[in-house]
Amino acid sequence: MGKSKVLVVGGTGYIGRRIVEASLKQGHPTYVLQRPEIGLDMDKIQLLLSFKKQGAHLLRASFSDYHSLVDAVKHVDVVISAMSGVHFRSHNLLLQLKLVEAIKEAGNIKQFLPSEFGINPARMGHALEPGRVTFDEKMVVRKAIEEAKIPFTYVIANCFAAYFAANLSQMGILFPPTDTVNIYGDGNVKAVYMDENDIATYTIKAVDDPRTLNKTLYARPPDNILSQRELVQKWEKLTGKQLQKISVSEQDFLASMKGMDFVGQVGVGHFYHIFYEGCLTNFEIGENEEEASNLYPEVKYTRMDDFLKVYL
Ligand SMILES: NC(=O)c1ccc[n+]([C@@H]2O[C@H](COP(=O)([O-])OP(=O)(O)OC[C@H]3O[C@@H](n4cnc5c(N)ncnc54)[C@H](OP(=O)(O)O)[C@@H]3O)[C@@H](O)[C@H]2O)c1
Repeated sequence: MGKSKVLVVGGTGYIGRRIVEASLKQGHPTYVLQRPEIGLDMDKIQLLLSFKKQGAHLLRASFSDYHSLVDAVKHVDVVISAMSGVHFRSHNLLLQLKLVEAIKEAGNIKQFLPSEFGINPARMGHALEPGRVTFDEKMVVRKAIEEAKIPFTYVIANCFAAYFAANLSQMGILFPPTDTVNIYGDGNVKAVYMDENDIATYTIKAVDDPRTLNKTLYARPPDNILSQRELVQKWEKLTGKQLQKISVSEQDFLASMKGMDFVGQVGVGHFYHIFYEGCLTNFEIGENEEEASNLYPEVKYTRMDDFLKVYL
């Protein structure tokens, strides 16, 4: 049996482009949704053309033309959505539901990987406002998928390294701080940091793998389970320079939400759950759940010392 045909929706996005590349690299016939709405966005056009050069097929379809979506889905066996985070553009919830509807109507999809790639929303019923919108909306999409009886895999990516490791988990910057670093609480709560390319590799590995069907797949490889202090130490070792550590109490951290815009408040909530509460690691991977490095030991995932070298 040949490899399944994979359609990536949101293929020019931050994680989507890596998923397209991984799909091509792993030998899947790869299709990328080409939305007319991208209009004159030359970067997206160039990216789509570069996918095409590498052998991807571009499928034209629009979220404002439901039938075009159904037709696109009918070309493939597997759909991966990498559409943007719902909390930044909340109309995206409706679009993701529309995609689920199109997959249901097409009736031929044997595996759907919705746009998850974060914290497991099923474990975040207690999450703080307003950040909980991310989890609540992902749960709405899951409910629609499961009610439509679409076979699924939910990929839990944990912390994208460029967003959480490069900055030593500081909010509001994407490069390592140079002198001082805020440490959340005692800094010993374990998080999980993942190179985005490895997330894409694991996502495509999960395609056609019956062990991931109707399951949640966590990327939680042992060497990347690190506390914030351990991450900072890795950076200090690379630079040979100690940073001044400023411990931020839970109360002060939560109070920093005041006066922030919506996106900032969502960010504080997510950071709180990750770095104070330990929501990425304070549970065992259980029934109907798998861990990616365990299923795919052949993948040489990027360790954070290596990841950080480019920031030197
Ligand atoms: N774990 C983490 O640290 C982390 C960090 C960031 C994001 N995430 C998660 O990763 C997933 C993808 O996020 P991302 O940052 O990669 O997304 P992104 O780059 O912001 O956007 C991805 C794609 O969404 C599509 N899109 C946006 N607006 C649209 C619209 N109005 N109609 C149709 N399509 C639209 C676009 O697809 P086209 O290619 O068609 O233009 C875009 O390229 C989300 O679920 C997010 O929660 C996780």
